[in-house]
Amino acid sequence: MRILVTGGAGFIGSHLVDRLLTDGHDVVVIDDCSTGREENLSRWLEAGHPRLRFLRASMLDETVLASAMPSMDLCYHLAAAVGVAHVVEDPLWAILTNTRGTELVLQHAAAHKVRVVFASTSEIYGESDQIPFREDGPRVLGPTWIARWSYSSSKAVDEHLCFAYAQRGLDVAIVRYFNVFGRRLDPKGYGSVIARFLSQALAGQPLTVHGDGKQSRCFTHVSEAVEATVRAATLPQALGEVVNVGSAFETTINDLARTVLDVSGSQGSIEHISYDEAYGKGFADTRRRVPDVSKAERLLGWRAEIELREGLRDLLAERRHVGSEG
Ligand SMILES: NC(=O)c1ccc[n+]([C@@H]2O[C@H](COP(=O)([O-])OP(=O)(O)OC[C@H]3O[C@@H](n4cnc5c(N)ncnc54)[C@H](O)[C@@H]3O)[C@@H](O)[C@H]2O)c1
Repeated sequence: MRILVTGGAGFIGSHLVDRLLTDGHDVVVIDDCSTGREENLSRWLEAGHPRLRFLRASMLDETVLASAMPSMDLCYHLAAAVGVAHVVEDPLWAILTNTRGTELVLQHAAAHKVRVVFASTSEIYGESDQIPFREDGPRVLGPTWIARWSYSSSKAVDEHLCFAYAQRGLDVAIVRYFNVFGRRLDPKGYGSVIARFLSQALAGQPLTVHGDGKQSRCFTHVSEAVEATVRAATLPQALGEVVNVGSAFETTINDLARTVLDVSGSQGSIEHISYDEAYGKGFADTRRRVPDVSKAERLLGWRAEIELREGLRDLLAERRHVGSEG
């Protein structure tokens, strides 16, 4: 197939591109490298891979979409403003990137009858206390003047847009990722607590836990997230559906910090700091974020199985390798 991947130089996107090229597809990537990195695709680009075309451009530039989309069979739409820190820092950029960008991608895909898989997020559920989160469950959000909720809202608008285009005949499937981790996580850790803890552990610094650390997440390995995404694109029963893509295994941030110290062999300590200190006044976090995985099992025949500890070891091996190269 000829496949467009928006955000293909990003963390999840580049792993997806690896998979698609390995499977023998022709791939075009559109990425402005605002948070992604061209190096994420270097193993293909340096070898001048004939089936990968990299367009360093914004999806907000319609001329780029207009030239790339017509010849595609499928589009994975992953480009987005990602990461709580980025969203809080520049909410306008985040809102417009996510809503305008997705509308343009869907509009061009619909015009050329290109199937779309949209990357949504567990943030959709906000502060809902109906655990585990079911795809048809409620969304509970804080007030609009708290910037972090704009990420959830922008992705929800994107999902609405997907359904609106589906009503007009577009083939579309939506995956809601839950805290994906693995190799190529941005070491600065702009959005990932795992990336931040690993960097702190390797630098021998204390691991800074925000709040009391009893908040929990379900960490999902990127290789498994990619597998679910590919299934959502290829299985007909996924069309018109939203599916949680997340591990069923829940970990508190305190436990994560202890596991990172253990796996890395770091002698470092764990320090708790307030959300205000970490993000400025008015930040709101979600206490638990746990997916109901039954729809993913039923629809995609998929379940996350890679354990956190195993994924952390692999990520650590990558960090140490990069570190040793200077
Ligand atoms: N990583 C997670 O745990 C997670 C969880 C939930 C949802 N998601 C979603 O998965 C997708 C991929 O996220 P990721 O973790 O790989 O983050 P990422 O930041 O590595 O990937 C996003 C990519 O989009 C690109 N991008 C941003 N604005 C763009 C624009 N205007 N034009 C072209 N490219 C642009 C960035 O440069 C980056 O490469 C995103 O849509 C994100 O919302 C990720």
